[in-house]
Amino acid sequence: MHEQQHDEPILEVRNVSKIFNAANEHQVVEMINDGRSKDEIREEAGAVVAVRDVSFSVKRGEFFVIMGLSGSGKSTLVRTLIRLIDPTTGEIIIDGQDITSMGDKELRDVRRNKTAMVFQHYGLFPHKTVYENTEYGLKTRGVPKKERRERAMSAISQVGLGGWENERPSALSGGMQQRVGIARALAHDPQILFMDEPFSGLDPLIRREMQNEFATLRAEVQMTTIFVTHDLDEALKLGDRIAIMRDGEVIQIATPGELVINPADDYVAQFVQGASPAKYMTAASIMTAMPATISDRDTAGAAIAAMTSHNSSIGFVLNDQGQLRGLVPVTRLVEIGTNGSKVPWGDVMTEAPQTGMDTPLEELLPLAVQSEHPLAVVDSTGKLVGEISQSTLLQVLAADMNDSDAVEEEAAPDTMSDIDESEVADVHRIS
Ligand SMILES: Nc1ncnc2c1ncn2[C@@H]1O[C@H](COP(=O)(O)OP(=O)(O)OP(=O)(O)O)[C@@H](O)[C@H]1O
Ligand SMILES: [Mg+2]
Repeated sequence: MHEQQHDEPILEVRNVSKIFNAANEHQVVEMINDGRSKDEIREEAGAVVAVRDVSFSVKRGEFFVIMGLSGSGKSTLVRTLIRLIDPTTGEIIIDGQDITSMGDKELRDVRRNKTAMVFQHYGLFPHKTVYENTEYGLKTRGVPKKERRERAMSAISQVGLGGWENERPSALSGGMQQRVGIARALAHDPQILFMDEPFSGLDPLIRREMQNEFATLRAEVQMTTIFVTHDLDEALKLGDRIAIMRDGEVIQIATPGELVINPADDYVAQFVQGASPAKYMTAASIMTAMPATISDRDTAGAAIAAMTSHNSSIGFVLNDQGQLRGLVPVTRLVEIGTNGSKVPWGDVMTEAPQTGMDTPLEELLPLAVQSEHPLAVVDSTGKLVGEISQSTLLQVLAADMNDSDAVEEEAAPDTMSDIDESEVADVHRIS
Protein backbone atom coordinates (compact mmCIF):
# COMPACT_ATOMS: atom_id res chain seq x y z
CA MET A 1 0.00 0.00 0.00
CA HIS A 2 2.70 2.42 1.05
CA GLU A 3 4.83 1.32 -1.89
CA GLN A 4 1.89 1.91 -4.19
CA GLN A 5 1.41 5.46 -2.95
CA HIS A 6 5.05 6.14 -3.54
CA ASP A 7 4.74 5.39 -7.23
CA GLU A 8 1.87 7.83 -7.66
CA PRO A 9 2.83 11.18 -9.10
CA ILE A 10 3.12 13.89 -6.46
CA LEU A 11 1.75 16.48 -8.85
CA GLU A 12 -0.78 15.97 -11.61
CA VAL A 13 -1.85 18.77 -13.88
CA ARG A 14 -4.86 18.03 -16.05
CA ASN A 15 -6.03 20.27 -18.87
CA VAL A 16 -5.18 23.49 -17.08
CA SER A 17 -5.92 26.75 -18.92
CA LYS A 18 -5.70 30.32 -17.69
CA ILE A 19 -7.47 33.08 -19.54
CA PHE A 20 -7.07 36.73 -18.61
CA ASN A 21 -9.42 39.59 -19.49
CA ALA A 22 -12.19 37.50 -20.98
CA ALA A 23 -15.63 39.14 -21.13
CA ASN A 24 -17.00 35.66 -21.64
CA GLU A 25 -14.72 32.88 -20.39
CA HIS A 26 -16.94 30.18 -21.74
CA GLN A 27 -16.64 31.53 -25.25
CA VAL A 28 -12.85 31.67 -24.97
CA VAL A 29 -12.69 28.10 -23.71
CA GLU A 30 -14.69 27.10 -26.78
CA MET A 31 -12.27 28.97 -28.98
CA ILE A 32 -9.37 27.09 -27.35
CA ASN A 33 -11.17 23.81 -27.95
CA ASP A 34 -11.66 24.82 -31.57
CA GLY A 35 -7.92 25.24 -31.88
CA ARG A 36 -7.95 28.99 -32.45
CA SER A 37 -4.57 30.65 -31.99
CA LYS A 38 -3.60 32.94 -29.11
CA ASP A 39 -3.45 35.92 -31.50
CA GLU A 40 -6.86 35.17 -33.01
CA ILE A 41 -8.39 34.90 -29.58
CA ARG A 42 -6.85 38.17 -28.49
CA GLU A 43 -8.12 39.96 -31.59
CA GLU A 44 -11.62 38.52 -31.58
CA ALA A 45 -12.37 38.21 -27.88
CA GLY A 46 -9.85 40.62 -26.39
CA ALA A 47 -8.70 37.85 -24.04
CA VAL A 48 -5.21 36.61 -23.21
CA VAL A 49 -4.71 32.85 -23.20
CA ALA A 50 -1.76 32.70 -20.83
CA VAL A 51 -1.87 28.92 -20.27
CA ARG A 52 -3.48 26.63 -22.77
CA ASP A 53 -4.72 23.12 -21.99
CA VAL A 54 -1.60 21.99 -20.15
CA SER A 55 -1.32 18.47 -18.76
CA PHE A 56 1.65 16.70 -17.18
CA SER A 57 2.56 14.80 -14.07
CA VAL A 58 5.63 14.91 -11.90
CA LYS A 59 7.11 12.00 -9.98
CA ARG A 60 8.33 12.20 -6.42
CA GLY A 61 11.91 13.44 -6.29
CA GLU A 62 11.79 14.59 -9.88
CA PHE A 63 13.30 17.90 -10.99
CA PHE A 64 10.88 19.25 -13.58
CA VAL A 65 11.88 22.30 -15.59
CA ILE A 66 9.49 24.64 -17.42
CA MET A 67 11.17 26.57 -20.18
CA GLY A 68 10.01 29.01 -22.84
CA LEU A 69 10.37 32.52 -24.20
CA SER A 70 9.19 35.56 -22.32
CA GLY A 71 5.39 35.69 -22.28
CA SER A 72 4.99 31.98 -23.06
CA GLY A 73 3.11 31.45 -19.79
CA LYS A 74 5.69 29.92 -17.45
CA SER A 75 5.02 32.12 -14.43
CA THR A 76 1.27 31.96 -14.87
CA LEU A 77 1.42 28.17 -15.07
CA VAL A 78 3.61 27.74 -12.00
CA ARG A 79 1.40 30.11 -10.01
CA THR A 80 -1.77 28.25 -10.93
CA LEU A 81 -0.20 25.06 -9.58
CA ILE A 82 -0.61 26.32 -6.02
CA ARG A 83 -3.49 28.61 -6.94
CA LEU A 84 -1.74 31.89 -6.37
CA ILE A 85 -3.66 32.35 -9.61
CA ASP A 86 -6.86 30.38 -10.03
CA PRO A 87 -6.88 28.35 -13.24
CA THR A 88 -9.82 28.98 -15.57
CA THR A 89 -10.21 25.28 -16.37
CA GLY A 90 -8.58 22.03 -15.34
CA GLU A 91 -7.52 20.15 -12.26
CA ILE A 92 -4.40 20.15 -10.14
CA ILE A 93 -3.74 17.23 -7.84
CA ILE A 94 -1.03 17.59 -5.20
CA ASP A 95 -0.14 14.43 -3.30
CA GLY A 96 -3.53 12.91 -4.07
CA GLN A 97 -5.56 16.01 -3.16
CA ASP A 98 -7.46 18.00 -5.75
CA ILE A 99 -6.51 21.56 -4.86
CA THR A 100 -8.74 23.11 -7.51
CA SER A 101 -11.84 22.27 -5.52
CA MET A 102 -10.46 23.31 -2.12
CA GLY A 103 -11.67 26.07 0.14
CA ASP A 104 -9.31 28.76 1.39
CA LYS A 105 -8.40 27.15 4.67
CA GLU A 106 -7.62 23.75 3.20
CA LEU A 107 -5.62 25.39 0.45
CA ARG A 108 -3.61 27.38 2.97
CA ASP A 109 -2.80 24.17 4.82
CA VAL A 110 -1.57 22.50 1.65
CA ARG A 111 0.62 25.49 0.85
CA ARG A 112 2.01 25.66 4.34
CA ASN A 113 2.62 21.99 4.82
CA LYS A 114 3.43 20.66 1.39
CA THR A 115 4.86 23.39 -0.80
CA ALA A 116 7.35 26.22 -0.82
CA MET A 117 8.08 28.78 -3.48
CA VAL A 118 11.19 30.74 -4.39
CA PHE A 119 10.84 33.72 -6.71
CA GLN A 120 13.34 35.69 -8.71
CA HIS A 121 13.19 38.45 -6.14
CA TYR A 122 13.68 36.74 -2.90
CA GLY A 123 10.95 38.34 -0.85
CA LEU A 124 13.02 38.58 2.32
CA PHE A 125 11.97 40.65 5.29
CA PRO A 126 14.48 43.52 5.38
CA HIS A 127 14.19 44.01 9.13
CA LYS A 128 14.66 40.35 10.02
CA THR A 129 18.01 38.57 10.22
CA VAL A 130 19.06 35.72 7.93
CA TYR A 131 18.13 33.31 10.69
CA GLU A 132 14.71 34.89 11.30
CA ASN A 133 13.97 34.95 7.59
CA THR A 134 14.89 31.29 7.32
CA GLU A 135 12.80 30.09 10.24
CA TYR A 136 9.83 32.29 9.33
CA GLY A 137 7.74 29.65 7.57
CA LEU A 138 8.35 27.13 10.35
CA LYS A 139 7.25 29.68 12.92
CA THR A 140 3.96 30.37 11.15
CA ARG A 141 3.43 26.63 11.06
CA GLY A 142 3.87 26.42 14.81
CA VAL A 143 7.01 24.29 14.78
CA PRO A 144 8.57 24.34 18.29
CA LYS A 145 11.54 26.61 18.81
CA LYS A 146 14.19 23.94 19.26
CA GLU A 147 13.23 22.09 16.08
CA ARG A 148 12.96 25.38 14.23
CA ARG A 149 16.47 26.28 15.25
CA GLU A 150 17.88 22.93 14.13
CA ARG A 151 16.16 22.99 10.79
CA ALA A 152 16.90 26.62 10.02
CA MET A 153 20.57 26.33 10.99
CA SER A 154 20.99 23.21 8.95
CA ALA A 155 19.39 24.88 5.91
CA ILE A 156 21.59 27.94 6.35
CA SER A 157 24.67 25.79 6.37
CA GLN A 158 23.42 23.77 3.37
CA VAL A 159 23.34 26.92 1.26
CA GLY A 160 26.78 27.99 2.48
CA LEU A 161 25.71 30.86 4.72
CA GLY A 162 27.01 29.52 8.02
CA GLY A 163 28.18 32.45 10.14
CA TRP A 164 25.83 34.95 8.47
CA GLU A 165 22.70 34.06 10.42
CA ASN A 166 22.60 37.28 12.45
CA GLU A 167 23.03 39.65 9.50
CA ARG A 168 20.18 41.48 7.82
CA PRO A 169 19.55 41.08 4.07
CA SER A 170 20.96 44.55 3.31
CA ALA A 171 24.39 43.30 4.38
CA LEU A 172 24.24 40.51 1.80
CA SER A 173 24.95 40.40 -1.94
CA GLY A 174 22.15 39.44 -4.36
CA GLY A 175 23.48 35.89 -4.62
CA MET A 176 23.58 35.55 -0.86
CA GLN A 177 20.06 36.92 -0.50
CA GLN A 178 18.86 34.34 -2.96
CA ARG A 179 20.56 31.68 -0.84
CA VAL A 180 18.49 32.86 2.10
CA GLY A 181 15.34 32.41 -0.02
CA ILE A 182 16.48 28.88 -0.82
CA ALA A 183 17.41 28.17 2.80
CA ARG A 184 13.93 29.21 3.85
CA ALA A 185 12.43 26.80 1.35
CA LEU A 186 14.75 23.97 2.43
CA ALA A 187 14.04 24.51 6.14
CA HIS A 188 10.42 24.12 5.24
CA ASP A 189 11.21 20.67 3.83
CA PRO A 190 8.35 20.91 1.35
CA GLN A 191 7.07 17.99 -0.66
CA ILE A 192 7.21 20.20 -3.72
CA LEU A 193 9.46 23.19 -4.21
CA PHE A 194 8.38 25.72 -6.83
CA MET A 195 11.03 28.07 -8.22
CA ASP A 196 10.34 30.81 -10.75
CA GLU A 197 13.58 31.98 -12.37
CA PRO A 198 15.35 32.03 -9.01
CA PHE A 199 18.78 32.82 -10.44
CA SER A 200 17.97 35.17 -13.28
CA GLY A 201 18.44 38.34 -11.22
CA LEU A 202 22.05 37.39 -10.54
CA ASP A 203 25.04 38.36 -12.62
CA PRO A 204 26.29 35.57 -14.92
CA LEU A 205 29.24 34.42 -12.85
CA ILE A 206 27.30 34.19 -9.60
CA ARG A 207 24.48 32.55 -11.49
CA ARG A 208 26.76 29.76 -12.77
CA GLU A 209 28.11 29.28 -9.29
CA MET A 210 24.61 29.06 -7.81
CA GLN A 211 23.53 26.63 -10.52
CA ASN A 212 26.44 24.33 -9.79
CA GLU A 213 25.91 24.45 -6.07
CA PHE A 214 22.23 23.91 -6.50
CA ALA A 215 22.89 20.92 -8.77
CA THR A 216 24.98 19.35 -6.00
CA LEU A 217 22.42 20.21 -3.34
CA ARG A 218 19.67 18.78 -5.46
CA ALA A 219 21.51 15.46 -5.80
CA GLU A 220 21.75 15.29 -2.00
CA VAL A 221 18.28 16.44 -1.05
CA GLN A 222 16.18 14.82 -3.81
CA MET A 223 13.30 17.22 -3.36
CA THR A 224 10.56 17.33 -5.98
CA THR A 225 11.12 20.64 -7.75
CA ILE A 226 9.23 22.58 -10.41
CA PHE A 227 11.71 25.05 -11.81
CA VAL A 228 11.01 27.84 -14.28
CA THR A 229 13.84 29.20 -16.40
CA HIS A 230 14.72 30.48 -19.82
CA ASP A 231 18.37 29.60 -19.37
CA LEU A 232 19.16 26.49 -21.38
CA ASP A 233 22.32 25.72 -19.41
CA GLU A 234 20.31 25.76 -16.24
CA ALA A 235 17.58 23.56 -17.69
CA LEU A 236 20.01 20.95 -18.98
CA LYS A 237 22.16 20.97 -15.89
CA LEU A 238 19.33 20.57 -13.41
CA GLY A 239 16.36 19.01 -15.18
CA ASP A 240 15.30 15.38 -15.13
CA ARG A 241 12.67 16.42 -17.65
CA ILE A 242 12.04 19.71 -19.39
CA ALA A 243 8.69 21.07 -20.60
CA ILE A 244 8.94 23.59 -23.42
CA MET A 245 6.18 26.22 -23.58
CA ARG A 246 5.07 28.39 -26.48
CA ASP A 247 2.05 30.71 -26.47
CA GLY A 248 0.73 29.13 -23.30
CA GLU A 249 1.00 25.61 -24.61
CA VAL A 250 3.40 22.85 -23.59
CA ILE A 251 4.77 21.59 -26.87
CA GLN A 252 7.27 19.00 -25.70
CA ILE A 253 8.18 17.27 -22.47
CA ALA A 254 11.39 15.29 -22.61
CA THR A 255 14.66 14.48 -20.90
CA PRO A 256 17.56 16.79 -21.80
CA GLY A 257 18.98 14.11 -24.08
CA GLU A 258 15.72 13.49 -25.95
CA LEU A 259 15.19 17.20 -26.37
CA VAL A 260 18.55 17.67 -28.03
CA ILE A 261 18.42 14.55 -30.18
CA ASN A 262 14.73 14.71 -31.01
CA PRO A 263 13.25 18.21 -30.80
CA ALA A 264 9.51 18.11 -31.53
CA ASP A 265 9.62 21.05 -33.93
CA ASP A 266 11.68 24.02 -35.11
CA TYR A 267 10.82 26.10 -32.06
CA VAL A 268 12.26 23.48 -29.73
CA ALA A 269 15.18 22.93 -32.07
CA GLN A 270 16.01 26.63 -31.81
CA PHE A 271 15.93 26.42 -28.06
CA VAL A 272 18.34 23.55 -27.84
CA GLN A 273 20.52 24.70 -30.70
CA GLY A 274 23.15 26.12 -28.42
CA ALA A 275 23.25 23.03 -26.26
CA SER A 276 26.57 21.44 -25.57
CA PRO A 277 25.42 18.00 -24.51
CA ALA A 278 28.83 16.71 -23.49
CA LYS A 279 28.89 19.27 -20.73
CA TYR A 280 25.72 18.23 -18.96
CA MET A 281 24.52 14.91 -20.18
CA THR A 282 24.96 11.65 -18.44
CA ALA A 283 24.47 8.05 -19.44
CA ALA A 284 20.97 8.23 -17.93
CA SER A 285 19.95 11.17 -20.09
CA ILE A 286 20.85 9.58 -23.41
CA MET A 287 20.19 5.90 -22.81
CA THR A 288 17.35 4.21 -24.61
CA ALA A 289 14.81 1.92 -23.02
CA MET A 290 15.44 -1.70 -22.10
CA PRO A 291 17.40 -3.56 -24.75
CA ALA A 292 16.95 -7.27 -25.48
CA THR A 293 17.32 -9.02 -22.15
CA ILE A 294 17.59 -12.66 -21.30
CA SER A 295 17.11 -14.37 -17.99
CA ASP A 296 19.92 -16.67 -16.96
CA ARG A 297 17.23 -19.34 -16.58
CA ASP A 298 16.12 -19.09 -20.20
CA THR A 299 16.65 -21.93 -22.60
CA ALA A 300 18.69 -21.12 -25.69
CA GLY A 301 15.47 -21.16 -27.71
CA ALA A 302 13.75 -18.57 -25.51
CA ALA A 303 16.88 -16.42 -25.50
CA ILE A 304 17.13 -16.48 -29.29
CA ALA A 305 13.45 -15.59 -29.56
CA ALA A 306 13.92 -12.60 -27.23
CA MET A 307 16.79 -11.28 -29.30
CA THR A 308 15.00 -11.86 -32.57
CA SER A 309 11.95 -9.98 -31.41
CA HIS A 310 14.20 -7.00 -30.56
CA ASN A 311 15.94 -7.33 -33.88
CA SER A 312 19.14 -7.56 -31.91
CA SER A 313 22.26 -9.62 -32.53
CA ILE A 314 23.17 -9.63 -28.86
CA GLY A 315 21.30 -10.00 -25.58
CA PHE A 316 22.08 -8.84 -22.07
CA VAL A 317 21.89 -11.68 -19.57
CA LEU A 318 20.25 -10.86 -16.23
CA ASN A 319 19.95 -12.81 -12.99
CA ASP A 320 16.71 -13.04 -11.00
CA GLN A 321 17.34 -9.63 -9.44
CA GLY A 322 17.64 -8.00 -12.84
CA GLN A 323 21.37 -7.52 -12.37
CA LEU A 324 23.59 -7.66 -15.41
CA ARG A 325 25.69 -10.81 -15.73
CA GLY A 326 27.08 -10.38 -19.21
CA LEU A 327 26.18 -10.40 -22.85
CA VAL A 328 25.71 -13.14 -25.37
CA PRO A 329 25.82 -12.93 -29.18
CA VAL A 330 22.93 -14.70 -30.86
CA THR A 331 25.38 -16.63 -33.03
CA ARG A 332 26.86 -18.34 -29.94
CA LEU A 333 23.43 -19.58 -28.91
CA VAL A 334 22.64 -20.82 -32.38
CA GLU A 335 25.92 -22.78 -32.29
CA ILE A 336 24.92 -24.68 -29.17
CA GLY A 337 21.47 -25.47 -30.61
CA THR A 338 18.05 -24.74 -29.27
CA ASN A 339 17.18 -28.07 -27.69
CA GLY A 340 19.49 -28.10 -24.69
CA SER A 341 17.41 -27.23 -21.64
CA LYS A 342 20.15 -25.41 -19.81
CA VAL A 343 22.51 -22.94 -21.40
CA PRO A 344 26.14 -23.11 -20.23
CA TRP A 345 26.23 -19.35 -19.62
CA GLY A 346 29.80 -19.42 -18.42
CA ASP A 347 30.90 -20.63 -21.86
CA VAL A 348 28.75 -18.49 -24.14
CA MET A 349 28.63 -15.22 -22.24
CA THR A 350 31.21 -12.44 -22.49
CA GLU A 351 31.64 -9.44 -20.25
CA ALA A 352 29.24 -6.61 -21.14
CA PRO A 353 30.68 -3.11 -21.49
CA GLN A 354 28.81 -1.19 -18.83
CA THR A 355 28.54 2.15 -17.11
CA GLY A 356 26.69 3.85 -14.25
CA MET A 357 23.77 6.19 -14.79
CA ASP A 358 25.66 9.32 -13.72
CA THR A 359 28.67 8.87 -15.98
CA PRO A 360 29.16 12.11 -17.96
CA LEU A 361 28.86 11.91 -21.70
CA GLU A 362 32.51 12.72 -22.31
CA GLU A 363 33.57 9.65 -20.34
CA LEU A 364 31.27 7.39 -22.32
CA LEU A 365 33.10 7.66 -25.61
CA PRO A 366 36.30 5.94 -24.45
CA LEU A 367 34.17 3.16 -22.95
CA ALA A 368 32.15 2.75 -26.10
CA VAL A 369 35.10 2.49 -28.48
CA GLN A 370 36.55 -0.40 -26.50
CA SER A 371 33.74 -2.62 -27.67
CA GLU A 372 31.66 -3.25 -30.75
CA HIS A 373 28.57 -3.75 -28.56
CA PRO A 374 26.19 -1.19 -27.08
CA LEU A 375 27.01 0.03 -23.59
CA ALA A 376 24.82 -1.35 -20.82
CA VAL A 377 23.67 1.23 -18.27
CA VAL A 378 23.26 -0.10 -14.73
CA ASP A 379 21.93 1.49 -11.55
CA SER A 380 23.75 1.53 -8.23
CA THR A 381 22.65 -2.03 -7.45
CA GLY A 382 23.91 -3.39 -10.76
CA LYS A 383 20.46 -3.67 -12.35
CA LEU A 384 20.28 -3.08 -16.07
CA VAL A 385 18.24 0.06 -16.81
CA GLY A 386 19.00 0.85 -20.45
CA GLU A 387 21.55 0.81 -23.21
CA ILE A 388 23.50 3.29 -25.28
CA SER A 389 24.25 2.32 -28.84
CA GLN A 390 27.26 3.65 -30.70
CA SER A 391 24.95 5.50 -33.08
CA THR A 392 23.10 7.34 -30.28
CA LEU A 393 26.42 8.41 -28.85
CA LEU A 394 27.69 9.63 -32.20
CA GLN A 395 24.51 11.58 -32.88
CA VAL A 396 24.76 13.40 -29.58
CA LEU A 397 28.45 14.13 -29.97
CA ALA A 398 27.96 15.32 -33.55
CA ALA A 399 25.27 17.75 -32.40
CA ASP A 400 27.70 18.91 -29.73
CA MET A 401 30.55 19.57 -32.16
CA ASN A 402 28.35 21.63 -34.45
CA ASP A 403 27.29 23.94 -31.72
CA SER A 404 30.00 24.08 -29.12
CA ASP A 405 31.41 27.40 -30.37
CA ALA A 406 28.08 29.13 -30.22
CA VAL A 407 27.34 28.45 -26.59
CA GLU A 408 30.37 29.56 -24.73
CA GLU A 409 29.56 33.02 -23.52
CA GLU A 410 26.08 33.45 -24.84
CA ALA A 411 24.23 34.81 -21.83
CA ALA A 412 20.52 34.19 -21.72
CA PRO A 413 18.53 37.32 -22.49
CA ASP A 414 17.16 38.92 -19.36
CA THR A 415 13.56 39.16 -20.34
CA MET A 416 12.00 38.63 -16.97
CA SER A 417 9.31 41.11 -16.40
CA ASP A 418 9.61 43.01 -13.19
CA ILE A 419 7.92 41.42 -10.30
CA ASP A 420 5.44 43.53 -8.47
CA GLU A 421 4.79 44.02 -4.82
CA SER A 422 1.93 41.58 -4.64
CA GLU A 423 4.36 38.84 -5.49
CA VAL A 424 6.51 39.58 -2.50
CA ALA A 425 3.33 39.40 -0.52
CA ASP A 426 2.70 35.99 -2.10
CA VAL A 427 6.03 34.77 -0.83
CA HIS A 428 5.21 35.81 2.67
CA ARG A 429 1.77 34.41 2.50
CA ILE A 430 2.90 30.96 1.56
CA SER A 431 6.22 30.67 3.35
N1 LIG B 1 -2.58 39.52 -14.75
C1 LIG B 1 -2.54 39.42 -16.09
N2 LIG B 1 -3.47 40.02 -16.85
C2 LIG B 1 -3.45 39.94 -18.20
N3 LIG B 1 -2.51 39.22 -18.88
C3 LIG B 1 -1.55 38.62 -18.18
C4 LIG B 1 -1.51 38.67 -16.74
N4 LIG B 1 -0.43 37.96 -16.32
C5 LIG B 1 0.16 37.48 -17.43
N5 LIG B 1 -0.50 37.87 -18.54
C6 LIG B 1 -0.16 37.50 -19.94
O1 LIG B 1 -0.07 36.09 -19.99
C7 LIG B 1 1.00 35.68 -20.84
C8 LIG B 1 1.96 34.83 -20.07
O2 LIG B 1 2.65 35.61 -19.12
P1 LIG B 1 3.70 34.98 -18.08
O3 LIG B 1 4.10 36.06 -17.16
O4 LIG B 1 3.11 33.77 -17.50
O5 LIG B 1 4.90 34.59 -19.05
P2 LIG B 1 6.36 34.08 -18.69
O6 LIG B 1 6.62 32.91 -19.58
O7 LIG B 1 6.52 33.88 -17.24
O8 LIG B 1 7.27 35.29 -19.19
P3 LIG B 1 8.67 35.84 -18.59
O9 LIG B 1 9.75 34.94 -19.12
O10 LIG B 1 8.75 37.20 -19.18
O11 LIG B 1 8.57 35.86 -17.10
C9 LIG B 1 1.59 36.95 -21.41
O12 LIG B 1 0.99 37.17 -22.66
C10 LIG B 1 1.18 38.01 -20.39
O13 LIG B 1 1.07 39.26 -21.01
MG1 LIG C 1 7.76 34.73 -15.76
